[in-house]
Amino acid sequence: MKSDILVSASLLGCDLSNLADEVNRAQNAGTDWLHFDVMDGIFVPNISFGQPILQAVKKIAKVPIDTHLMIKDPIRYVEEFAKAGSHMITFHVEATHEPLMVIDRIHSCGAKAGISVKPGTPVGMIKELIPYVDMVLIMTVEPGFGGQGFIHETLKKVSMTKAIAEESGKKIRIEVDGGINDKTAAECRNAGADVLVSGSYLFGAKDMAQAVRSVRGH
Ligand code: DX5
Ligand code: ZN
Repeated sequence: MKSDILVSASLLGCDLSNLADEVNRAQNAGTDWLHFDVMDGIFVPNISFGQPILQAVKKIAKVPIDTHLMIKDPIRYVEEFAKAGSHMITFHVEATHEPLMVIDRIHSCGAKAGISVKPGTPVGMIKELIPYVDMVLIMTVEPGFGGQGFIHETLKKVSMTKAIAEESGKKIRIEVDGGINDKTAAECRNAGADVLVSGSYLFGAKDMAQAVRSVRGH
């Protein structure tokens, strides 16, 4: 049976000069999803990649693509990232004044919707939205860069989200992203996370299949 804990390999951490090989390396290593980080240089102080690169990844993707929009006013680009091949689209609550409209737009484009909070944003900011989403992404580093250290204080937000979801009766996934390795993944799973994003740890591993298993916990 397929595990209920999922690993999502963040392409930001791969060797972009060999993108196709890296996507295949992650897939052959058993990653459940591919995590695609979109940064606009405004919501976060960095620029990554956009729809043309996503279309290229989609051509060879055998697993769902988990798009993480770190962009201001995400509603502007939902349709394009859905069309480009996203299975899941996650946006930041801090980036919009109309989160429910963004969620609706994602769903009407046929994708699953996720909402994310930065490390300093309280879970209270998204509490009311939990019944409408498919996933909550708790950032475990400040969004914008790969390779940062895990912020332990974010773990309590994972368990709070889990408790709120259980109380509401809504079955959602809880994703964590940033500084995830074999050790921090275990802490996140214990707190209730069931989708673990990892970039530099997975792509930097000598044996990526082993690294994927260690993040998943088996
Ligand atoms: C950071 C991105 C992450 C990043 C994680 O803003 O959202 O997905 O790639 O990278 P690592 O796993 O290296 O912290
Ligand atoms: Zn991400």
